[in-house]
This record gives sequence, structure tokens and C-alpha cells, in this order.
Amino acid sequence: MTPPEAGARSGPPASGPPVALVTGAAGGIGRAVALALAAQGLTIAGVDTVGAADPGGAGDLAARLRDQAPASTVLAADVSVAAEVEQAVAVAAGIGPLTTVVNCAAILTCHDVATTDEAEWDRVFAVNVKGTYLVCRAAVPRLRAAGGGCIVNLSSVHALATVPQLAAYAASKGAVLALSRQMAIDYAADGIRVVPLIVGSVDTEMSRQHAAAQGLPPGHAEPGDRSLGRMADPAEVADVIGFLVSDQARFVTGSPVVADGGMLTHL
Ligand SMILES: NC(=O)c1ccc[n+]([C@@H]2O[C@H](COP(=O)([O-])OP(=O)(O)OC[C@H]3O[C@@H](n4cnc5c(N)ncnc54)[C@H](O)[C@@H]3O)[C@@H](O)[C@H]2O)c1
Repeated sequence: MTPPEAGARSGPPASGPPVALVTGAAGGIGRAVALALAAQGLTIAGVDTVGAADPGGAGDLAARLRDQAPASTVLAADVSVAAEVEQAVAVAAGIGPLTTVVNCAAILTCHDVATTDEAEWDRVFAVNVKGTYLVCRAAVPRLRAAGGGCIVNLSSVHALATVPQLAAYAASKGAVLALSRQMAIDYAADGIRVVPLIVGSVDTEMSRQHAAAQGLPPGHAEPGDRSLGRMADPAEVADVIGFLVSDQARFVTGSPVVADGGMLTHL
């Protein structure tokens, strides 16, 4: 992990405005979530393999976040590496009380089981499943110390119904669903809600990669009909997450929340 930028520090839980840790913050949905939660008054600790030093999206995100919430930061860390996750979560909890975690970091590969080699399978699970576990493992004690909070884990329609050639990805998103349900039960008494969010097609780099692998034009990540007949803009998913982490959603935990434009309603 690269050193945190000026202003970020690690140490005991701080007082002050609540902090949200958002992984995959340089990506399509993570970036939109970081900006939406900053607009809701949270200070953001963004985490991505691409950090604030990135001259592109992540660096621009760091600058925009600082305009809204000056103590915000974007950290370079790999969610599949325990030491990097521990350090990033410590930095986040040093900025202020860590109350919110949104796990967006993930990778997608497009193969069936017979054509998925072992290294590919392991990498997808390392990022999508182990990464979620490592971030939650580091964050839960901080959320407890803050008096509770909310974790949103990004799952996918592919956890429930899928298309050909997504073996490792679909399985990993099913695991995220099961892990979230488990944590919701384990941490309910701590005042920590854990919500798996089932997301449909969203216009991001990941869906463009999936479209290309399927031979579909950009904007058509899934073949077939969709109730709303379009992909989501990342901001539409961020709006749902903004609600889920807010007190308005205080009775929502464990069970999957679906934001798929009606995709799963179609046979
Ligand atoms: N885009 C969709 O249609 C869609 C649909 C369903 C679910 N999702 C889920 O939403 C989440 C966000 O997806 P997106 O569409 O924004 O993807 P994206 O590819 O735009 O962004 C993913 C981000 O994760 C980061 N990342 C990858 N590996 C990492 C690692 N090891 N450590 C830290 N960061 C890492 C990438 O650098 C990237 O910035 C994912 O969990 C994805 O599975 C997306």
C-alpha cells in the first residue's frame, strides 16, 4: 500500500464526522458511491488498487471528495492482501468514527468451469470474496467501537440467475450473498447492519468488459429483455446505497436488496 496522502492518519478511533470506507472507489459504481456518500455528509476513505496519486480517475476523485469533505482520502490498496487492508482500515478509522463500509472492489472473468484455469478462479475469489471478508474483518471492530453502522456488499444478479461463461464471477457473487447474510446475523447485536445488494447491469468498465466478451455492443451487457430496457447509470446504484447506509434503512439487514431495473422479473 502506498503511504496515505497528507491529512490521513492512522491511530485510535477519532471523533468528528463519520467515515465511510468505499472499496473499488476508482471504479464506476465505487466512485459514484463515494461522491454520493460525501454529499450525505460522510467523510470518505476510498480504497482501490489505483490510489490518489493516479493522474486519472482516482486522483480526480480525491480532489472532488476533498471539496465536499476535506478529510477524505483515496488509498492505494489491494483488498485481497490482508496487511494492506488492515492499514487502509486503520487509516480510515483514524480520520473519524468508521460507521459505513461499501465493498465494491471486484473483478470479472468470462469462462465456463472447463475453461477457467486455477489461477483465474483463485484470483476472482481472492478479490471478490476474500477481499470482502478481509475488509469486514478489519472493519467490524471499528464499527463496534463507533456504536454500530452499516456494511453494504455488492453482489450481482448473477448470484441468482446467470448467462453463459461467468463461472468464477457468478460463484463469487453467490458467496458474497451468503457471507453478508451470515454477518448480518453475527453482528446484529452490535448494531451493525450488513446488506447484500443484488445489482443488475450498470454502465461501467466491468459491464463493457462483459459485453465485449459476449460479442455485444457497449450498453448491452446482458442479452435479452430488461424491464426498464436500459442499463443503470452508476449514480442510480449509489442512490440506493445512500439510502441503505442511512438511518432511513434501519430495519434493513441480511436479506438481499435488489436494484436490477426489473431484470430478474424476466424468464
Ligand atoms: N457493472 C455492473 O453491471 C455490475 C452488475 C452487478 C454487480 N456489480 C458489482 O458492482 C461492483 C462494482 O463494479 P463496477 O461495475 O463499478 O466495476 P469497475 O470495474 O468499474 O470497478 C471495480 C473497481 O475495483 C477495483 N479493484 C479491482 N480489484 C481490486 C483489488 N484487488 N483491490 C482493490 N480494488 C480493486 C478496480 O481497480 C476498479 O476501480 C462489483 O462488486 C461488481 O461485481 C456490477
